[in-house]
Amino acid sequence: MTTTPQIIGVGTSEIGSTDLTGRDLFTAAITEAFDGLPAPADIVDALYVGNQSETYEHQIMYGSLVAEWCGLRYVPAERVEGCAAAGALALKNAVRDVQSGHHDVVLACGVEKMTAGGTAGATDALSAAFDRALEQRSGITAPSQYALLGQRYLHETEATEEDLARIAVKNHRNAARNPRAHFQREIAVETVLESDYVAPPLKLFDCAPVSDGSAVVVVASEERAAELVSADDRVTVGGVGAAANNIGVADRHLTVIEGANRAAQHAYDEAGITADAVDVAEVHDAFTVCEALLAEAAGFAPRGLGYESALEPTERSAGWTDVHLSTSGGLKARGHPIGATGLTQAVEVYEQLTQTATPERQVEDATVGLLMNEGGVADAVTVAHVLTAY
Ligand code: COA
Repeated sequence: MTTTPQIIGVGTSEIGSTDLTGRDLFTAAITEAFDGLPAPADIVDALYVGNQSETYEHQIMYGSLVAEWCGLRYVPAERVEGCAAAGALALKNAVRDVQSGHHDVVLACGVEKMTAGGTAGATDALSAAFDRALEQRSGITAPSQYALLGQRYLHETEATEEDLARIAVKNHRNAARNPRAHFQREIAVETVLESDYVAPPLKLFDCAPVSDGSAVVVVASEERAAELVSADDRVTVGGVGAAANNIGVADRHLTVIEGANRAAQHAYDEAGITADAVDVAEVHDAFTVCEALLAEAAGFAPRGLGYESALEPTERSAGWTDVHLSTSGGLKARGHPIGATGLTQAVEVYEQLTQTATPERQVEDATVGLLMNEGGVADAVTVAHVLTAY
């Protein structure tokens, strides 16, 4: 038997540099997600946990731990790994379990305590996502890998560093209207342009920060959802897509993010929509250039014009759709607690589609949303979900 999976509850911890442990972060997220629902032990059949690295808290076995922390015993419970795509992989697994009729209610969780090792610890842990023989040995980091994409993008298109800076400004503006965000302050273009280079052309304010955080999404069958919550609190998962690409960027096209395009296309096909139906999208803007590249990969912008994502829909070039990108503030300013990030994207689009986002960032009449979460550099793995208002 198959059913259309629904999201019936979401929650996050605070996101940022916190004094909280992974356990405390998760507790905050699940408490919010279950506000108004029966206790997890009464309804949950299985869970998945996105978690990037055991180095931060010297902890593995996150599946069993999270089950224990929320009072579940003897249910399938599994940690999912895929660097920054771990959260969306957890959501995909939960959705497929429910869709297939295997379970009625499944949790997709994500937890990361990134600040435990400081920037150096996070940089080292993240480098494990690159091919050891070919890439790690040369000392590359996530910012330096993405800088290659950035250099190439600026070379091939009309975009300038100022255009990329405008993406950061837009995302900080959105984050200033999002009480869940890591950075809740607006910045000016000059703030970005005058900040230090991390890896040219990327400067401090072109980068996502090192964030702690947890997020929980409760996925239920249509039938169970109807028993547990009102229609106003339900969002449908219409389509899912996932695609892996070679890990090494030397083997890939730097400015055509093919895996992301295929993942999005698969999710659109499954949902029976095209890109122009999407009202809101959370894309993986770990660095400003990523938002430009993913706007193109998702089919929102013509090739070479994705950098216009910071402009109002009416000001963009012909061929752009009317989509609103990264209304949460994106990874750039909402924050990027690696294993939880894919689920923080789901939380934002759930709020947009249930019209419960803060009024200052609520997109009027939003009914269709896209989540696009990546792991490794660019599309080493991409997971896309289409969510629709119930
Ligand atoms: N954007 C804006 N401000 C940032 C920031 C960011 N990405 N990162 C840190 N800051 C701010 C801090 O809030 C702090 O401000 P304050 O002095 O007013 O308190 C200041 O900059 C210094 O913070 P610190 O943590 O010491 O910065 P850092 O130099 O150690 O780290 C980066 C900066 C960009 C190197 C780090 O955030 C980073 O590595 N980001 C990328 C993470 C990543 O690769 N994620 C995976 C992508 S797939």
